Amino acid sequence: MTMPYSSLIAFPISICLVAGVKAQAQELLPHVNCKNSQVNSRFFHVQCPDMNRGVYMIPKNFDLSSIHPFVYSLEITRGYVGAEELYAILPRSSLDNVTLFDFNTEDLDPRFSIMSFFRNVKSHLRNLILTNVKILYLERDDFRDFFKLEEITMHKVFISVIRPDIFEDLSKVIMVNIGTNSLQSIDWSFLKPVSGNLKTLRLTSSIRSNSNWTCSDPKFELGVLTTADLSENIITFLPDCVMNTFRSTTTFLHLHLYSGINPYCRDSRDCGCCALCSLANWVRDSSYRKISSINCGNPPIKYENGAFPGQLNYEMCNEMEAGSTNASIPVTEADIPTTDPVTHLSHNTTHGSFSTFVSTVVGDESTSITAYTDGTPSATVLSATASSVAAVTVLIGVAALVAFRR
Ligand SMILES: *[C@@H]1O[C@H](CO)[C@@H](O)[C@H](O)[C@H]1NC(C)=O
Ligand SMILES: *[C@@H]1O[C@H](CO)[C@@H](O)[C@H](O)[C@H]1NC(C)=O
Ligand SMILES: *[C@@H]1O[C@H](CO)[C@@H](O)[C@H](O)[C@H]1NC(C)=O
Ligand SMILES: *[C@@H]1O[C@H](CO)[C@@H](O)[C@H](O)[C@H]1NC(C)=O
Repeated sequence: MTMPYSSLIAFPISICLVAGVKAQAQELLPHVNCKNSQVNSRFFHVQCPDMNRGVYMIPKNFDLSSIHPFVYSLEITRGYVGAEELYAILPRSSLDNVTLFDFNTEDLDPRFSIMSFFRNVKSHLRNLILTNVKILYLERDDFRDFFKLEEITMHKVFISVIRPDIFEDLSKVIMVNIGTNSLQSIDWSFLKPVSGNLKTLRLTSSIRSNSNWTCSDPKFELGVLTTADLSENIITFLPDCVMNTFRSTTTFLHLHLYSGINPYCRDSRDCGCCALCSLANWVRDSSYRKISSINCGNPPIKYENGAFPGQLNYEMCNEMEAGSTNASIPVTEADIPTTDPVTHLSHNTTHGSFSTFVSTVVGDESTSITAYTDGTPSATVLSATASSVAAVTVLIGVAALVAFRR
């Protein structure tokens, strides 16, 4: 029960040493404007805010080696990383979470390299947020060895292409958030490696057209996905190979498609155009699927919370597809006699307020309908729907007539 003298003396000394190291570490800052704040008894949040539009120049005025040894999350706003490969965060085994805002944003700044900057910490990072960072392109090696990455956000990173191999090592990923890019081409198969765990996908304000949206390897399913946010893209439909990856979800899947700049079915009054036929069928096929938001037509009508497809009727699309497959009876506009169904629809309803008119249809199982801005009653939406059903019926009738006559 008696302690040797040596340990009695050593004990206080070691306390002093630990306290000293701690105090020193707390002072340790990569730049005077940064601060360390304690997350818990062991870890630190190192934050370097944007101070009066100054730039953290790495390596000139920002010392990567002085990032706190027990850093858990690192957040830097407005930085510049030199082009040379050696500028990398030094090994920090507790680092989980990195957020970079506004990096290498000037025209003459070099490209920011994910592969180089995170070289020493990537094997344990869980959450990476890059916003307004000049990445320009993603290569297969950029995300190689990010074995533990769970969440990845890339907003405004100036990429124009998403290739299928960029996420090949990221099997743990549960959230992908890519926004505000201008994609000329996107290979949807980039999600295949992360499909096993991906719960949330946000790909917004990025896809510029349907034309280069492809799937080089369509054989995968996003089976645990619960949210797919594809809002604010400039698209007119979802490619079949994309829809097919949404087929096996065992959980409820919410799909957001609202696009303020580009409503669907632009030449229609509502969401009843054939480009959305397979989307409508997909929703009707399972009660585990819901379109959280979509807007269609001119003037645009917004369908929220499962109001799409409601009672919209796409039978004409199926008829036309079946009929046109082998084009035995091409029905063109010229073939259709003078009855113009559109005149039946237009009545008097919304003239004069074309650009400001936006209706909203809100629904759930009971498809309750509320509507409007500027006092336009919900009945407008209902009657528009009813009249387009009528129009569809008229068209089918006309097509049948034409077919019969031949
Ligand atoms: C990561 O850091 C960001 C920014 O500091 C913060 O918003 C986010 O909650 C952090 N995530 C985790 C998992 O700690
Ligand atoms: C599709 O890709 C081709 C070749 O990469 C490109 O020239 C074209 O501009 C792209 N189309 C769109 C609409 O971005
Ligand atoms: C349509 O025609 C193509 C050849 O033009 C043929 O391969 C296909 O089987 C036909 N489909 C039907 C449904 O008759
Ligand atoms: C159209 O609206 C005007 C007033 O805006 C009204 O006087 C007229 O009777 C309406 N016509 C029809 C066919 O409803």
